[in-house]
Amino acid sequence: MDIESWKNSAAKKAAKFVRDKTIVGLGSGTTVAKIIRAIADLESKAIFVTSSSESQRLAHDLGLNLSSLETHQTLDIMIDGADEVDPNFDMIKGRGGAHTREKIVSGAAKQVLIVIDKTKLVKNLGEHAPVPVEVLPFAPKYTVAKIWELGGNPTIRMGASGTPFVTDNGNYLVDVKFETISDATKLEQKINSLPGVIDNGIFADVADVLLVGYEGGCKTLRSKISCTKFL
Ligand code: 5RP
Repeated sequence: MDIESWKNSAAKKAAKFVRDKTIVGLGSGTTVAKIIRAIADLESKAIFVTSSSESQRLAHDLGLNLSSLETHQTLDIMIDGADEVDPNFDMIKGRGGAHTREKIVSGAAKQVLIVIDKTKLVKNLGEHAPVPVEVLPFAPKYTVAKIWELGGNPTIRMGASGTPFVTDNGNYLVDVKFETISDATKLEQKINSLPGVIDNGIFADVADVLLVGYEGGCKTLRSKISCTKFL
């Protein structure tokens, strides 16, 4: 499996969704980094709103026109990656720890384009990926105990220095493995109702279009039916 080249084909196709004079949200991660480079190669005249310090730095270094949600509250399109996507287009995101801002930026966009490689398409959400939960550093162990009560298996994410990983928002992350996720919408809401939780990486009913890199190039999926056939 040449996943890098699958991601490259999907990234190049994603860059073509960016039209001049439109306002474009950008997520984060390795796939989004490829998309940012592909957009820069096209010398795009669009305006970009990023959702992480990492994407902000890269987009800035490559000379993209940057703005913010404070200036533009409505975006034409959000382009982002994901860790898992099921046939309902429900997703798990946040391996890079930027899901809270990504959810805000996605919410401001008229269309959400998700770009993945085929290994991330799953029949059942949560098959492989844990759900990242951003929590206040005030009492993480208390929040972790509450997550156990929900039926998840939580681990506080650690950084390279052996201390907890800290998000762009100054919070901690708890990665929660669930045996099964039968109702993504309900679980997303339940986790977010726990004390200390800022937001979690379940994105139910957010994606509009999927670009999937695979051995044959890149497939555009716009519906559950096309996704199930492709799986
Ligand atoms: C970051 C994300 C990323 O989009 C997701 O983790 C996919 O990353 P990659 O393209 O590196 O596999 O949600 O918060």
